[in-house]
Amino acid sequence: MNTPHPLQQVFRDRRQRLCARLQDGIAILPTAAEKTRNRDAHYPYRFDSYFYYLTGFTEPEAVLVLIGGNPGQSILFCREKDELRETWEGVRHGPALAQSRFAFDACYPISELDTRINTWLANQHSVHYALGDDAAWDTRIQHWLSRVREQVRTGIEAPTRLVDVRQVLDEMRVIKDTSELDIMRRAAAISAQAHQRAMQHTRAGRYEYEIEAELLYAFRRGGAHAPAYTSIVAGGANACVLHYVSNDAVLRDGDLLLIDAGCELDGYASDITRTFPVNGVFSGAQRSLYALVLAAQEAAFQAIQPNATWNAPHDAAVRVLTQGMLDLGLLQGSLDAALETESYRRFYMHRTGHWLGLDVHDAGTYKQAGQWRTLQTGMVLTVEPGIYIRAADDVPTAFHDIGIRIEDDVVITPKGHEVLTHATPKSMDDIEALMRAAR
Ligand code: GLY
Ligand code: MN
Ligand code: MN
Repeated sequence: MNTPHPLQQVFRDRRQRLCARLQDGIAILPTAAEKTRNRDAHYPYRFDSYFYYLTGFTEPEAVLVLIGGNPGQSILFCREKDELRETWEGVRHGPALAQSRFAFDACYPISELDTRINTWLANQHSVHYALGDDAAWDTRIQHWLSRVREQVRTGIEAPTRLVDVRQVLDEMRVIKDTSELDIMRRAAAISAQAHQRAMQHTRAGRYEYEIEAELLYAFRRGGAHAPAYTSIVAGGANACVLHYVSNDAVLRDGDLLLIDAGCELDGYASDITRTFPVNGVFSGAQRSLYALVLAAQEAAFQAIQPNATWNAPHDAAVRVLTQGMLDLGLLQGSLDAALETESYRRFYMHRTGHWLGLDVHDAGTYKQAGQWRTLQTGMVLTVEPGIYIRAADDVPTAFHDIGIRIEDDVVITPKGHEVLTHATPKSMDDIEALMRAAR
């Protein structure tokens, strides 16, 4: 804790880039509040992603203030050292250490924020913060502004513009730098290990939560702090519930198991889905559908390269899936008609991916000026086609209650893309071989 943070320069560069964009403005970025779970117990603490992106600072009760300019100034407010509290709750940096470790221009106790902020708000034209994100912060900042306005007769000018700081930050965050990609590769590798472990431990008669426990074990064992989102461990028909998280059913011989799980490492998410047979061997109907989803993912991958539009992989996956649904008798009519009427949505109702980063559904717009944006080097996205077939009279019985998704994480490279999650077994042969060896 006494040494400079290994990524000190990275965080500092990001702050300077934002300061340069603020010009005659000030930015206020609080980290997340601790949340009570019940009585005096809290949920595990997770910092705010924007705040962390600019600071690397993981303690609660901290606020970053940036004064626009080139290079501008960055000021952190954080908790003071407190021997008694630290005995109970763990070590705090305190302002002095935080300043040297993270290279802020100044650091002050969080208790001084309300009094000190006045000086920096005066004579700024604009205030940049996450507008409307938190009602208490909206009120607090409005209060500060009223206070500055009360001083105008002394010659002070009050800010006149409120700007959502997330617009600029989202555009910074959507392109990952090398330090981020390094972490995301490691997060993906831990999650890949976890999925392998889950495949090895799956047997008929075990419960979904037993397999979830294997995933959580592998995440922590690999050094990850937590799952990036609640793991979905869905046997048989449960896989047709897209956000199934109860994970409490028994696994049955002959069913598939869909697992959507990824760890968070140093703040960064991984997001992997694999679907495999509980008994280790794909049946005929399962093979047909799995091959179809895999082909859809392959088509999506083909469409992922610099300057392709965001929607190209989705369109490619939908086309393959829809043709497959027609071939298997799940849909009737022509391909063009099915695409036009979107009848495929009965069995494929979500999109093929999303940005991935500090948040599992990460920052960044998908359209710009009404058009799908283009993929650029350093963007990270998921590719996650699927098919979900609920039992119904007009659906061939062999396909009833089968849900399959295959999800990988991909970064755009100058020549195409790199699959970050490549170490997760995916072909039917590889999955069956791994499961056979574990029996
Ligand atoms: N696990 C969340 C998602 O795949 O989007
Ligand atoms: Mn996803
Ligand atoms: Mn997922």
